[in-house]
Amino acid sequence: MTLIPGDGVGPEITEALILVFQALGQPFHWKHAEMGLGAFEKYGDPLPARTIQSIESTRLAIKGPVETPLISGFQSPLLRLRKHFELFANVRPSQILLKDHLNDDKVDMLMVRENMEGLYSAEETYLPVGDDPHGIAQATAYNSRIGCERILRFAFDLAQTQRRRKVTVVHKANVLKKLSGIFLQTARELYGSSEYAQTFEYEEMIVDACAMQMAMNRSFFDVIVTTNMFGDILSDLAAGLTGGIGMAPCMNIGKNCALFEPVHGSAPGIAGKGIANPIALLLSGALMLLHVGKHDEASRLRSAIDKALNEDLVRTPDLGGNASTYEMATAVARHLG
Ligand code: IPM
Ligand code: MN
Repeated sequence: MTLIPGDGVGPEITEALILVFQALGQPFHWKHAEMGLGAFEKYGDPLPARTIQSIESTRLAIKGPVETPLISGFQSPLLRLRKHFELFANVRPSQILLKDHLNDDKVDMLMVRENMEGLYSAEETYLPVGDDPHGIAQATAYNSRIGCERILRFAFDLAQTQRRRKVTVVHKANVLKKLSGIFLQTARELYGSSEYAQTFEYEEMIVDACAMQMAMNRSFFDVIVTTNMFGDILSDLAAGLTGGIGMAPCMNIGKNCALFEPVHGSAPGIAGKGIANPIALLLSGALMLLHVGKHDEASRLRSAIDKALNEDLVRTPDLGGNASTYEMATAVARHLG
């Protein structure tokens, strides 16, 4: 298992992960690797070849947040990793973990986001207008039928195995008739030509209406499947509506490789202070345990997190508490002993 601490608060929350997984009985053997700004400063590349080699051998990685060097010419190392290992599916569950934040609504949303195409595939250029060489900025994006079918099938299969009640296909085909239309069309064909209809309900929604619906009624959605950038935006919205970005885990899935990470960024403003919330990374660890079939460890970890947050009321400042990263981690570890 490749372990990448990353930048900013990454190393602190990684310490928390190591501590908690030790209490869990060390289900993985960690192989440390570097990525992000720190790696760039050391090796001249934010995604060094040795990190890629490590993941090539383990096929399983968990990482903290990484920063992209601001110098132009450097693509986000995370996007490079997703591309290199064809991590085509990005899965982000959202639940309300703080019991005192539950109203009557139960939220159990699963965002499935296409992870390689759409606007993230954009080739960008400037076109001159008059004597302004950058008068127009232009991007060309693509969605392939194969890519759409692959992510839709993944989402539909996931809905089926997890016995979900509904899948909402989110698009903007009213405006982007081809770019978003191909996704919608493929969804209709796939749902119509299979036995999915016997197991879950199918719904289509335009992305702006989806954002409104999510904000108005947190428990409306079950599984959402959408293209890359809509999924990026909506998954942050879902995180904000269910406990904040400090609690949102994520997995990137490819055919032979999986990468787990928190949804949040490196939070340089609080880095080094020891107050970052480690829960998103710990929950990513729980997703990883599930992914490799360690169901018992995954549910022990989830219930330890639940007890630390809701019985001990140990919470980091982003959740309104005053616990440090270390105190949060030890509170979780205590329930695993
Ligand atoms: C995410 C992040 C990334 C994305 C960035 C860091 C490239 O925001 O994982 O959601 O846009 O996909
Ligand atoms: Mn994002």
